[in-house]
Amino acid sequence: MALYSEKVMDHFRNPRNVGVIEDANGIGEVGNAKCGDIMKMYLKIEDDVVQDVKFETFGCGSAIASSSMATEMIKGKPISEVKELTNKAVAEALDGLPDYKMHCSVLAEEAIKSALDDYYSRQKTE
Ligand code: FES
Repeated sequence: MALYSEKVMDHFRNPRNVGVIEDANGIGEVGNAKCGDIMKMYLKIEDDVVQDVKFETFGCGSAIASSSMATEMIKGKPISEVKELTNKAVAEALDGLPDYKMHCSVLAEEAIKSALDDYYSRQKTE
């Protein structure tokens, strides 16, 4: 069996939603101290719905594929659903990741949660 699923390879080669949202109202950046990979997530939330999402990932192929898949999974979704997204769901949507690459999908979950935290803290100060 190939180490990586076709979906992982597809999202790694053609990542969706790469880039920056200039007027994002939720931005999260997380990193993994062990491998040094970094992921930044930009959310544009309106009426409690993720209208747009983009990411920048300086990391391994699994991290890029995980961020790409995660953005596809939350785009157009209400915040209540986005909050529930787990790294397991992202990995499953990619038809699995090798065990030692599961931490890459954790970065995607954490980046989204961090961007949501940023969104909430901005709401308080406005
Ligand atoms: Fe660190 Fe993939 S090896 S995020």
